[in-house]
Amino acid sequence: MSTNIVWHEASVSKQERREQKGNHSFVLWFTGLSASGKSTLANAVARKLFQEKVGNYVLDGDNIRHGLNKDLGFSEEARTENIRRIGEVAKLFVDSGTIVLTAFISPFRADRTQVRDILEADEFVEVFVSCPIEECEKRDPKGLYKKARNGEIKQFTGIDSPYEEPENPEIVVSTHLHSIEECADQVIQYLKEKQFI
Ligand code: PPS
Repeated sequence: MSTNIVWHEASVSKQERREQKGNHSFVLWFTGLSASGKSTLANAVARKLFQEKVGNYVLDGDNIRHGLNKDLGFSEEARTENIRRIGEVAKLFVDSGTIVLTAFISPFRADRTQVRDILEADEFVEVFVSCPIEECEKRDPKGLYKKARNGEIKQFTGIDSPYEEPENPEIVVSTHLHSIEECADQVIQYLKEKQFI
């Protein structure tokens, strides 16, 4: 725990930044199994927002683990730290007036709740990317399920590491039943209904 540090108030407030950008800022938190479609969907939504001239940025699990979180593995503790850091980074984006889309497995309910709790009530939109593990395993775009089944990867989510489904997500999309395009439209529709965009 750091000591002897003092919080400095910013000269430009979050509200002023939002007003200048002309949009509300919030986190769209995509959670789901590996290969459920989180990154693809987050990027599809990001493209739609961009086309409507709504600024946004995607934080993606694989990419963040190449840089900011390259020191973290996949133990329970490491995943919790991964999500804690992403939550803090996402909060900075929100403070800057930017919509941020995060695509992390984020398997533990308590970790996701912790992120929700550091934000305001209208700043966290949880999107459960629902897809049965059988379908994710069939897709297996990176061959990771195969490796996990062979024992080449340990602590793989859904195989020998748990995934706790959200209990009250703002949005549930079913990527095994609907196309990415349809799921992205569902997310955009929610944001419009809530007048977030
Ligand atoms: S977590 O659980 O939220 O900390 O995971 P995340 O940061 O989203 O990283 C998930 C991606 O890492 C790859 N990978 C694994 N996933 C799950 N379990 C294990 N053991 C593992 N090892 C590597 C995998 O490519 C995940 O990407 P997605 O896009 O989810 O398939």
